[in-house]
Amino acid sequence: MSRLGLWRGSAGPFKAAADDRPAGDGGPIEQAFFGHEGPVIHKWHHYLPVYDRHFAPWRGRQVRLLEIGVFKGGSLALWSGYFAPGSTIIGIDIDPACASLDVTPARVMIGSQDDPAFLAKVVETFGGAIDIVIDDGSHQARHMRRSFDLLFPFVADGGLYVVEDLHCAYWKQFGGGFRRATFIAKAKQVLDDMHHWYHPHGRAPAHAGVAAMHCYDSIIVFDKGREERPINSKRGGA
Ligand SMILES: C[S@@+](CC[C@H](N)C(=O)[O-])C[C@H]1O[C@@H](n2cnc3c(N)ncnc32)[C@H](O)[C@@H]1O
Repeated sequence: MSRLGLWRGSAGPFKAAADDRPAGDGGPIEQAFFGHEGPVIHKWHHYLPVYDRHFAPWRGRQVRLLEIGVFKGGSLALWSGYFAPGSTIIGIDIDPACASLDVTPARVMIGSQDDPAFLAKVVETFGGAIDIVIDDGSHQARHMRRSFDLLFPFVADGGLYVVEDLHCAYWKQFGGGFRRATFIAKAKQVLDDMHHWYHPHGRAPAHAGVAAMHCYDSIIVFDKGREERPINSKRGGA
C-alpha cells in the first residue's frame, strides 16, 4: 500500500493482525473489548485506553449516555456492562434495521445525527441532559459539526462529548481534506472560543462550557464545565 493509498483513506493497512497487542495497559474497557463475544463492536485499539482514562470517574455510576452510531449494537453492550445498572444508554442510528436489534438494557432510536427535530426528541428522552455523548456515526464532516452544535449544549456540567474517527476528516469520501472545514477545523474554532475572553471575536453559543479538550490520534474528548471569568493575582513577596 503506497502512502498515497493511506492518504486516500484505505482502512486496509490499519487492520490489526492476530498477534497485535492491546494499545493500553489493560484497563477495564480494553479488557471488555478484547473479551467481548456478543454482537460486533468496531473500535480502533488506541481509543480503548482513552475511554479507560476519561470514563473511569463514571465507572459504577448511573450515567445518561448517548452513542451516535449503533451498527450491530456491540458498543452499546460494552457501555451497558461498564456503567451501573439503571443507566440510561441510548444509541441512535439512521439505519432502520438497528431498531430490531436487542440491545437491552440500552435502547435504540432511529434518525439522523444532523436532524435537529430528531435530536431534540432524543434529548427529551434523556430528560433534557446527557452525561456522555459519543459520536461514532456517519463520520461525515458536516454531520459531526452539526451534531456537536445541537447536542453539546445539553451535555451536563462535568459531562463529556467524545468524537471518534477524526482521521476521516482527511478523507474525501467523508467530506474531508487537509485543512478543510472538517471537525478538526471546528475543534480549532472551539479552542479559539474557549479563549474568547482574550480576543474580540466572540464565541459560538454552542461552544459555551468547553472546560477542556483532550486531543488524541483520531479522538477528541471535550469536558463540559461551568464557565467562570478567569482572574489572576500575585501572592507572596517580601
Ligand atoms: C462505525 S458504525 C458504529 C459502530 C458502533 N458504535 C461500534 O462501536 O460498534 C457507524 C454507524 O453510524 C450509522 N450512521 C450513518 N449515518 C448516520 C447518520 N446520519 N445518523 C446516525 N447514524 C448514522 C451507520 O448506519 C452505522 O451503523
